[in-house]
Parts: sequence; structure tokens; C-alpha cells
Amino acid sequence: MRHVSNNSAWLGESFVDCFSCERAQNRNWNTLAISLLRRFSLRRQCYGSMASGNISLRRAGFGSTTRTGAWWLEPLLIFLGLSAFVVYSTWAAFQGAHYRFGPYLSPFYSPELFGDPAHSWFGAKPGWWPTWLLFSPALLILWAPGGFRLTCYYYRGAYYKSFWADPPSCAVGEPRKHYRGERSFPLILQNVHRYFLYLALVFIVILAHDAWKAMWFTNAAGQVSFGIGFGTIILTINAILLGGYTFSCHSLRHLVGGGCDQLSKIPIRQRAYSCVSCLNRRHMLWAWMSLFWVAFSDIYVRLCSMGIWSDRRIF
Ligand code: FES
Repeated sequence: MRHVSNNSAWLGESFVDCFSCERAQNRNWNTLAISLLRRFSLRRQCYGSMASGNISLRRAGFGSTTRTGAWWLEPLLIFLGLSAFVVYSTWAAFQGAHYRFGPYLSPFYSPELFGDPAHSWFGAKPGWWPTWLLFSPALLILWAPGGFRLTCYYYRGAYYKSFWADPPSCAVGEPRKHYRGERSFPLILQNVHRYFLYLALVFIVILAHDAWKAMWFTNAAGQVSFGIGFGTIILTINAILLGGYTFSCHSLRHLVGGGCDQLSKIPIRQRAYSCVSCLNRRHMLWAWMSLFWVAFSDIYVRLCSMGIWSDRRIF
């Protein structure tokens, strides 16, 4: 129980709510300094307005808040959006079929390491693959982009709120009494994000190459010619959006701008830092647009391959 001198109970609750909000923010190490500054500033406001009397600050119960807006709407939408993506992508990854149509390859299956002997990097399904285990080329590679998203600083803040209610939203009471930080197991594993970033950068190159290959069509006579179809545009947008998401990563921002006292003395790094920072301001937007589009790209290739949709050639 904390005691501060103030004659406003509302201010006391607000202090607790904001304190809870800061704890959520502290899980993101990149915002630690900002959080400390805010806390310092908040305390100055609270103590600065002390007039007389003592009040007891209490821990807010689960879901209680002084917020008046629809604070639950954003976590709910995030819960529905992420759940839909996880269910669909898991289903698609286990299909092992209809992931290629003409020059198009579904991003869920790229790179195709093993699979179709005519197109995969290393040939057909490997002999060491357990016979009891379902084989799908997507299962060999999806752990990398999946791990990149799972450990993303933005998504962490989003799914901690939406799936664990920890807290349900900023300044809203949470269901547990103890703070589970990211400095101990298992959440300390989230720090592998920077290594997933290195893999994600390789994936961007591969997906850009897929978009390039989607511009080369083979006719019935076996002749290859340049062209643009709806699928070409969809796969190109997919590479751009995933590139925007990856190049706006907080870890990349630290990689290009960190460990240097005077960035201005290294112009190339300063320019790179400015570019990443510019993209980083819209990281959440990149995250959602790329998530939606990568699923849509798979749906497009899948439905064309199944004959449900037909691909239109622009030229
Ligand atoms: S912080 Fe979101 S991808 Fe790195």
C-alpha cells in the first residue's frame, strides 16, 4: 500500500493506472528510457499538485479503469486478426499442395527447399523425413518468418494485451498480481528477435526474386516471355510490404544506428538510420498490411492453382 498526500481519489487511481501502463511499456526495452522519463514527469505532476490530506492507492481490479472510451476495441480486433491469421496460415502450411501456379509461388512456401523436384532448391522430399510425419515444404521454412513476427516488439505489446490481458489495455487493471518481465525465462527468449531479423533480411531477397520470376511466363510451346499478370502485382506488393515491415524493425534501427556516439561522423550510417527511423514510425502499419497481404498472396496462388480463380494477364 502506498500513501501519497493528495485530496483527489481520482488522481490516486490515475497514478496507479499509469504506473500499470508503464509496466507494460517497460517490457519493451526500447522504450525503457522513455518510460522512466514519463514516470519521473508523472510523479512531479502528482507530488506537485499535493495540497493536503492522505489517500491510499489501491491496485485496480481486473478490467477496472478510469478510461471512458472503448479501450477494449483495439485488443479485441487484434485478437481476432491474429487468431484468423494463425489459423489460416497453419492450415495452408499443412496442405503441401496448390502453392504454385505458373511462375507464381506462394510466399508461405518460399524458398521451396524440398518438394517439387522441378522447382525446389534441393529436389524432392528428403529420404530422412519421418514417414509418420506429414511433409509440406512450408513446414521447413515458416518457423523463420513466424519467429520474426512472434518476437517483434510491436506484436509483443499487442498480443500481451489481447491474448494474455497483461494488461488488457493501457491503464486497465490486469488479472494477476505479479509482474512477469522479459528478464527471466521464458520471456527472455524474446531477445532472439535480432537473430530472426538476420533471417528475415534473407527472406526479403528471396521474395523479391520470386516477384521477378513472376514476370516470366512460359507458353504452350515452351517459350519464356516477359509479362505482368495480377499475380505478378500481388507478389510484388507482397515483397514491398514485407520489406517495409522488415526495414522498419526496431532491431534493425539499433543495428544501423547503435554502438556509435556520433552518428553524424559516419554519413552513410546516419542516412541509413534516418531511412530506418522514417519507416519505423509506421512499424505497426507495416506489420498489419504485410500480415494481411502475405495471407492474401497465398490465397490468390492457391485459388488460381485450384482453378477457382483465373489469373488475368495485363500484357
Ligand atoms: S520490432 Fe517488429 S519486426 Fe523487429
